[in-house]
Amino acid sequence: MTIVPNRYDGKVAVITGAASGIGQATALRIAAEGGQVLALDVNAAGLEETAARAEGKLATMVADLREPDTCRAAIDNAVEQFGRLDILGNVAGIARSEYVTDVSVEAYRQMMAINVDACFFIAQAAIPHLLEANGVIINIASNAGIMGQAYSVVYCMSKGAVILMTKALAMEYMKQPLRVLAIAPAGTDTGLVRGYKIPDGVDWDLIGHYTSPRGFAKSEDIAALFCFAASDEAHNIHGVVLSSDNGITAG
Ligand SMILES: NC(=O)c1ccc[n+]([C@@H]2O[C@H](COP(=O)([O-])OP(=O)(O)OC[C@H]3O[C@@H](n4cnc5c(N)ncnc54)[C@H](O)[C@@H]3O)[C@@H](O)[C@H]2O)c1
Repeated sequence: MTIVPNRYDGKVAVITGAASGIGQATALRIAAEGGQVLALDVNAAGLEETAARAEGKLATMVADLREPDTCRAAIDNAVEQFGRLDILGNVAGIARSEYVTDVSVEAYRQMMAINVDACFFIAQAAIPHLLEANGVIINIASNAGIMGQAYSVVYCMSKGAVILMTKALAMEYMKQPLRVLAIAPAGTDTGLVRGYKIPDGVDWDLIGHYTSPRGFAKSEDIAALFCFAASDEAHNIHGVVLSSDNGITAG
């Protein structure tokens, strides 16, 4: 990881899912590059680790972002503490592999609540502040939002929604000072992948090609793309999905 010193001086970022994986790497990098970060997650112990590793200004807030009121409170907290908001990184998410006929109502709602609802409601709360700051929203989608994947119907649905939310917001704010874009990682070495369980008896012909021969990315790889895309240098990147997927969606 090659830090760009002072790239985020004077900027304030709210990063969700910042207790581990991609969100943690992103929050740490923005802080190391001079930004002030409010790191959000439901995992208090993970957030403590993020705070302990931070080189720079990083505050934490334990928040279950499935609740729209909590999303609003988190944005209020950031603006009260730091006085402005430049960057919203929607990184928090869960993944689960199941036969579609086994998906319970509870599992369906849980996936949608964090992967989709939280992205929407925290963006809704953040937008008035981001508009004042010429700000940016970056949503972490997935290659699973671009291509259909067997045994992951609800995850694919949720990430497809994140991509269309990104594009629709980009259209709505086309003439105003707000950028919105998505990053679509594929296999990235995080707790989410390490804890991923494939159900018994699946047809591996249908899922084998979702792992790239080029291997897995690291959280820091995705954070590096995020930190370019959220910077002023990326001022003309709006409404797109930037894939960082070791070629999975190439063919
Ligand atoms: N790891 C991959 O291979 C991969 C691939 C494509 C997309 N993604 C996406 O990247 C994002 C980050 O995932 P990761 O791989 O870093 O996994 P991760 O499990 O390390 O991080 C996800 C974080 O989200 C948090 N979270 C879950 N539910 C929450 C809630 N209700 N409120 C607040 N926080 C909550 C978790 O506590 C965790 O810290 C996710 O949106 C995921 O779908 C990951």
